[in-house]
Amino acid sequence: MKPSLEVKIHNLVLKNPVMTASGTFGYGPEFEDFFDPSTLGGIFVKGTTGKLRQGNPYPRMAETPMGMLNAVGLQNKGVDGFINDIYPRIKHYHTNLIVNVSGSTIEEYIEVAEKINSLDHVPAIELNISCPNVKEGGMAFGTSCPSAAAVTRAVREVYQKTLIVKLSPNVTSIAEIAQAVEGEGADAVSVINTLLGMAINAETRRPVLSTVTGGLSGPAIKPVALRMVWQTANAIKIPVIGLGGIMTASDAIEFILAGATAVQVGTANFIDPAVCPKIIEGIEDYLIRHGIDNIKSLISGLNIN
Ligand SMILES: Cc1cc2nc3c(=O)[nH]c(=O)nc-3n(C[C@H](O)[C@H](O)[C@H](O)COP(=O)(O)O)c2cc1C
Repeated sequence: MKPSLEVKIHNLVLKNPVMTASGTFGYGPEFEDFFDPSTLGGIFVKGTTGKLRQGNPYPRMAETPMGMLNAVGLQNKGVDGFINDIYPRIKHYHTNLIVNVSGSTIEEYIEVAEKINSLDHVPAIELNISCPNVKEGGMAFGTSCPSAAAVTRAVREVYQKTLIVKLSPNVTSIAEIAQAVEGEGADAVSVINTLLGMAINAETRRPVLSTVTGGLSGPAIKPVALRMVWQTANAIKIPVIGLGGIMTASDAIEFILAGATAVQVGTANFIDPAVCPKIIEGIEDYLIRHGIDNIKSLISGLNIN
């Protein structure tokens, strides 16, 4: 018998625990030549702000050993552009569409969340309080308990569906931030966004990125992400969605054992656009190989002693 891959994140039923991370999968149609996006557990779409944003000047990407730095800076069409131009093209997908909501002020988060609340085929939002690539707001909200709590509280008042908060790893204690947002009504947390980093060209003596610093992602951050998922899962009752450097099914299983209920795949999509179905298949193979009939029994299954 086939093992069950189904998990639940608050009110969302995921047919499998594999979702795509915001900013690394477009909106879905970009990947239709490689596989059917409806096979995913969910899609986190690109960060969406109140107004259209051009993002940061180029260069805004740099390769690093086992990873990449980006400073895209939330380039997007704005919430009205999303609702009018993009949503009609993706609302038929048979998967969970989750909008990554970003902003520079609490008012902007509220405006975007309120507008997205009215979309029937978007059952959840992910509050991005952890973007290191914008001058105002973004990561600033996610790096202290009072500001993380304040933005969560404000959005919770206007948003009735599943509210996921995406946490920044650029903090001393991610568990405390997780507790602060849980206390304000978050239904789940995503752990982690990118780690703040930089790259220098020794020949030109100049920074590689136009913004000097950027967000590090990919396999280089996996050990940090695993540690933070484990610490967070031990500190809160709401589900944790794990991400950071997941390239294979085995990576995904490691996050689930550390306490994640589901995972997101980010940078790996740039290397192999068909990686997600391979990860889903690999998880199923793992369950069969280990005689496990339900993925839920693996969550927090790490054997410490
Ligand atoms: C090019 C790029 C753009 C991103 N844009 C967003 C974004 O708009 N909103 C967000 O919350 N995270 C964004 N992220 C962060 C990813 O969603 C993810 O948290 C991070 O890359 C770690 O996962 P990974 O190592 O699997 O890529 C972006 C990452 C990359 C590489």
